[in-house]
Amino acid sequence: MNYQYIRVEPLTPTIGATIHGVDLSRPLDDETFDEIHQAWMEHLVVFFRDQELTPEQHLEFGRRFGPLHIHPAAPYVHDNPELMQIHTDRHSQRNNGAGWHSDVSADEEPPLGSILHLHQVPAKGGDTLFANMYAAYDALSGPMQAWLAGLNAVHRADYAGLYGDHKPQRAFPQSTHPVIRAHPVTAKKALYVNSGFTRRIEGLTAAESRGLLQFLFEHIRNPAFQCRFQWRQNSIAMWDNRCTQHLAVWDYFPDTRSGIRVTVKGDRPFC
Ligand code: SIN
Repeated sequence: MNYQYIRVEPLTPTIGATIHGVDLSRPLDDETFDEIHQAWMEHLVVFFRDQELTPEQHLEFGRRFGPLHIHPAAPYVHDNPELMQIHTDRHSQRNNGAGWHSDVSADEEPPLGSILHLHQVPAKGGDTLFANMYAAYDALSGPMQAWLAGLNAVHRADYAGLYGDHKPQRAFPQSTHPVIRAHPVTAKKALYVNSGFTRRIEGLTAAESRGLLQFLFEHIRNPAFQCRFQWRQNSIAMWDNRCTQHLAVWDYFPDTRSGIRVTVKGDRPFC
């Protein structure tokens, strides 16, 4: 793909690219926005450096991709639940997103994408890993792909106790989604189960479901499907939840890592 308005630097051949030449604090013309969207669809997760965005500018950028999603339970900042807080410091008991997941896949219409802006980063560590779920699907054998294509899985969120005494925004969601989903923009097929939210495969015995999910969760951990992003202050990562999973590494205790995530609403997954 040739880009005229931005420069795109892939991080790996499989997933991830840094976009250069844009200032997201300024209104984006349609041509630049379209190229950012194309690069995102091509590389699944895109990164921007040195973006001094206000929360309002961050919200405005997110809204270019669609209406914004509100997390069921996470704390937020500036009195706006569209501004999800991502924060870990010396008092934290856990970090957000420590296991492989696709954001809030337990929602009936899970978010299509998430845009994380980090304002403060640890001196070392605090990387985020991203994995390509098209590649995970493609690496399965034909018979396995055919079998999974007919299966649905139950996704359930349980945030009880995870956010201290912060009152949840809404009831914890539960939904059933196809194990293989077709991406509404690229039409490519992606594996859509994750260890954060997927609890069981419908129609299988408990033992069969456990065994299959264990195999798939292990399968997606293949480093060949992944990239690893090293944050700097004012970096942004924007990932497509329909075809990726991610994991945030907490290897920097007692340092602080802090920022805001704006999340874009998505559609009901289909196969
Ligand atoms: C998340 O949104 O899952 C957290 C990602 C991160 O902190 O890198």
